[in-house]
Amino acid sequence: MKPEIQSNKIVILSGSGISAESGIPTFRDANGLWHNYSWEAVASPAGWRAHPEVVLEFYNERRKHSAEAQPNIAHCAIAALESAYEVVVITQNVDDLHERAGSTNVIHVHGQLNYARGTSDARRRYRINAAPILMGQLCEDGTQLRPDIVWFGEDVEYMTESRRHIETAAKVLVVGTSLSVFPAASLVKAARGRAEKILVALDMDKLPFGFKFMRGKAGSIIPFLCERWLEEASKN
Ligand code: OAD
Repeated sequence: MKPEIQSNKIVILSGSGISAESGIPTFRDANGLWHNYSWEAVASPAGWRAHPEVVLEFYNERRKHSAEAQPNIAHCAIAALESAYEVVVITQNVDDLHERAGSTNVIHVHGQLNYARGTSDARRRYRINAAPILMGQLCEDGTQLRPDIVWFGEDVEYMTESRRHIETAAKVLVVGTSLSVFPAASLVKAARGRAEKILVALDMDKLPFGFKFMRGKAGSIIPFLCERWLEEASKN
């Protein structure tokens, strides 16, 4: 039996497009990261084994860039929803712009730039903020520290918990993701028929069933959408 929908609950599933207006590149848009770097080289266990220094440099740069970026009006509008709703942000992003905008319940399914972990034990995590990870820096178990990022071929984190949140949400907002990386993309299927379901992006090849597509930049759409939801809550 499916769990009960909570009328006051909003789940946001975000991807790199929400941080684009903060100056952080997406992955697959023109000039996205995967047009300029090989994901096999910098985002896979094989790449790490072959050239760990190249992988560290790639993520050290991403970490620095993310620390210098500021949350934009879309991150802030989502954070403001917490004044009237239970809000869970499930993000594929490895930056911390949702948290810095004020969101208090953020699940990172693809890891986080501001943490490092050991090579063999993903559970040993160390908060490093904007600091680079250097070759020779070791985890307590003696293995080289690596970015706390879920690479291609590795297990995506918090899937069960994330699916459960989406199943119980009355509103589901998908923003800034091409929904092309699985299993994270499959989370949209957990949204309930009765839930209000909206997807915001510049384009979308295959709109998930039941979602309303709002084409445009997150910064132009999300603040108005959130304002409408806050007004709706004030009438209830
Ligand atoms: P993609 O680059 O695949 O998709 C970016 C999406 O954001 C596209 O749908 C764009 O239309 C949309 N977009 C771009 N700018 C936008 C804006 N200003 N406002 C709203 N939408 C905008 O990025 P993701 O879907 O995030 O994983 O990629 C998913 C995963 O692939 C990432 O988490 C990463 C990558 O490989 C790992 O590294 C494990």
